Amino acid sequence: MVLALKYRPKRFEEIIGQDAIVKTLTNALDKNRLAHAYLFSGLRGAGKTTTARIFSKALQCEKGPTSSPCETCENCIMANENRHIDIIEMDAASNRKIEDIRELIEHTKYKPTLGKYKIFIIDEVHMLTNEAFNALLKTLEEPPEYVKFIMATTDPLKLPATILSRVQHFRFNKIPESTIESYLQRVLTQENVEFEDEALRLIVKSAKGSVRDSLTLLDQAIAYCGGKIELDKVVEMLGVINPEIISQIFKAIIENDKEKLKEIIKEIKDYDIESVLDEIILFLKDALFNGGLPLITVQRFFNIISDSRELIKYNSDNEFILSLMFFRMVEATKPHKIDDLIKNLEQKIDIDSYKPKDLPNITKPDPEELFKTLIAKIKEKDYDLGLCFETSVKFISFENNELKWESCPDIECKNMLRRFFSPVIRPLINEIFGLNVKIIPQKCPESPKPQPQPQQPQTQKKTNSPLNDKSEQVISKVREVFGSDVKITKILHKS
Ligand SMILES: Nc1ncnc2c1ncn2[C@@H]1O[C@H](COP(=O)(O)OP(=O)(O)OP(=O)(O)O)[C@@H](O)[C@H]1O
Ligand SMILES: [Mg+2]
Ligand SMILES: [Zn+2]
Repeated sequence: MVLALKYRPKRFEEIIGQDAIVKTLTNALDKNRLAHAYLFSGLRGAGKTTTARIFSKALQCEKGPTSSPCETCENCIMANENRHIDIIEMDAASNRKIEDIRELIEHTKYKPTLGKYKIFIIDEVHMLTNEAFNALLKTLEEPPEYVKFIMATTDPLKLPATILSRVQHFRFNKIPESTIESYLQRVLTQENVEFEDEALRLIVKSAKGSVRDSLTLLDQAIAYCGGKIELDKVVEMLGVINPEIISQIFKAIIENDKEKLKEIIKEIKDYDIESVLDEIILFLKDALFNGGLPLITVQRFFNIISDSRELIKYNSDNEFILSLMFFRMVEATKPHKIDDLIKNLEQKIDIDSYKPKDLPNITKPDPEELFKTLIAKIKEKDYDLGLCFETSVKFISFENNELKWESCPDIECKNMLRRFFSPVIRPLINEIFGLNVKIIPQKCPESPKPQPQPQQPQTQKKTNSPLNDKSEQVISKVREVFGSDVKITKILHKS
């Protein structure tokens, strides 16, 4: 039998890491202050179903409701064997329809056969359809006095507010690593399996707060290690980086030992780099809380790591990214003079400059294709507008964030483009070509005659300085793109 089932708690005292919930439920049982509907939500494998079953037994026990059921009466025995006739478990994932709920409601009309209550445990309750939820509402609000509902879900946000307001809600949290660790130690002692503390710690970390996941990994480790559970084997089994290496990295950084770092990089460059960065961050977090490193250093390290994360998007060379990151960290441990700091700021590392120009495995999208996508997307929003855009706007180029096109719309289309440019077209351009894209429209060759601009006030004195010519050009381009009623504010720069 797998560990998770073998060690499923049968009593409240055996549930770990959910003290507040256990306390509230045991008090409610002992003081007989019971609600008629409960919702247990939270992380997978953190005790929701287990608690629901123990709570049901506590209600049904002959001596109950009591927080310490006798374990010997027929009710307790049947509940422990999961075959109590008045504890009905339903999996909402496979019974999600209104008919299923109607059947359940039918059930609530008959009194319990053996126990004091008729208890419905509805697992994965967020899977019910809306109609099913609605059908349940009335019974949930005012069930017969012998009926109790316990609903469980990993995703309470998917429940309608009408349901949430009719239940007592208990949130099952992630269980702290130290709590799971000592629990696993007890399990292994009972199982007579030897282990290394570090190996166990790694398993617990990988389970991310779920007891079930930790027990499942433990099962796997027992099989994999074939005897004593050792760190090296667990590292191998999980395919993660050995935590020992992470501490070696930091030691080498602090000691400015670049040779050692190069050695380590060779060793770890084939790991998934994202998870290497995750491990490094976890280590840093630890260092932050344990005061292992000065705050300023930790802060610098975090900045360097987040730069590296950016870099991963553009560069697939792990060795390069790791080297850059570690060597920058080495620099970051050195005390900085103010002058250096200023110089550093001035030459602040610009991620863009690391983007390799032609990376073979990152195919740059063809801008003409992007332009076609743009047309398609405009058509999706408004077919006529898309058609007008397609027929009157011709793609020229897209370089250095500048999108050049030639636009020759007829008057009707022109009006339409003006009206919908800002609300429809521009957002789509941003979505497809990026936020910083500049649009450079070219004049239409067929209509060389300059359009008279009646709205343009004639108050501006025209001088023939090249600067003014230039700004006139810019203004006319802006008007072409944004429409002639656009307001343009000039800011004068003193020179
Ligand atoms: N708080 C806990 N204390 C002790 N064991 C636990 C706890 N939570 C989970 N377990 C172990 O994990 C197994 C699964 O737990 P349970 O079925 O209660 O999880 P769950 O929260 O209902 O998960 P899911 O959301 O996946 O249904 C149990 O059999 C038990 O071995
Ligand atoms: Mg469950
Ligand atoms: Zn009993």
